[in-house]
Amino acid sequence: MEGYHKPVLLQTIVEMLQAHQAKWLCDVTAGDGGHCEAFLEGMPSPGRVIAMDQDPQALARTRQRLDRFGDRLITVRGNFSHFSSLLPHAGRGQVDGILADLGVSTLQISDPAKGFMFSADGPLSMQMDPDSGLTAAEVVNTYEESQLADIIRTYGEERAWRRITGAIVKARRRNPITTTRQLAEIVLHTVHGPFSIKSCARVFQSLRIHVNRELERLEEFLPQAVQEMRPGARLAVLSYHSLEDRCVKNFMRDQAFPCVCPPRLPHCVCGARPTLKLVGKLIVPSQEEIAANPNARSARLRIAEKIQEAEQ
Ligand SMILES: C[S@@+](CC[C@H](N)C(=O)[O-])C[C@H]1O[C@@H](n2cnc3c(N)ncnc32)[C@H](O)[C@@H]1O
Repeated sequence: MEGYHKPVLLQTIVEMLQAHQAKWLCDVTAGDGGHCEAFLEGMPSPGRVIAMDQDPQALARTRQRLDRFGDRLITVRGNFSHFSSLLPHAGRGQVDGILADLGVSTLQISDPAKGFMFSADGPLSMQMDPDSGLTAAEVVNTYEESQLADIIRTYGEERAWRRITGAIVKARRRNPITTTRQLAEIVLHTVHGPFSIKSCARVFQSLRIHVNRELERLEEFLPQAVQEMRPGARLAVLSYHSLEDRCVKNFMRDQAFPCVCPPRLPHCVCGARPTLKLVGKLIVPSQEEIAANPNARSARLRIAEKIQEAEQ
């Protein structure tokens, strides 16, 4: 349907999470409900989908869009970093598959009021959860120069981090930076030439990651996901930048290969047992999908399966 976020790698995810035989699937980043819809269509009735999101507007769109599924859809507002406690009692330890499609949806990005977009003017907010407290305006106006530099360098992977931070600090001495346009202009006046737009995108990305504590939340979520899955269940994580992907890759690898014995030992003596096994390799969207949905271009999908006790 037009007007909603276009779900990425939709068919692959439905197949990989084995929706056709699932009783409980959980989408912890429901967004506009694109993946949830495909899950509900692919699952045998009365299979249920738990749809979580920290953005109440996104969750309301999912509910409205998928109303026809009645109580087969359970919506839960909250941050997936509290996954275990948000999960309805009946789903605990029973989940057959979990999807985390990280980042922001097209509708969130293109809403100037949320302040994610540098090409339109709006308040410098960048909160996915409107009640989360910290805003990007607070970060750019009140953080020490070194803290700000760290955010832009680490989360934005921006080469001109030093110059951009200096320009922000200089500008805020004159006037507080409260809008997306003000911040974009500072970056565009600092970085010249063909890469200035990319620098702007990276600075905005870095602030968004910091404001929403995206990496910390992801690290908190992953072990809870494993805990709440039944043996044989699958976890699928779609990430859109290298820092997120590294976090997912390292987590899945550590769960799949936890042994810390020195390689010279003939067999394991540390006793660490794997909790996950990797399912296939990294999956990326096809060129056709990227042509039809440019937002899919940086997507990286990793899948792992919870190990049955007998396999350990
Ligand atoms: C890329 S969109 C998901 C789109 C969705 N798959 C669809 O088909 O419409 C990501 C969603 O995850 C939500 N989100 C991001 N981080 C979150 C977190 N830590 N806890 C809960 N929701 C989160 C955002 O609010 C956004 O709605």
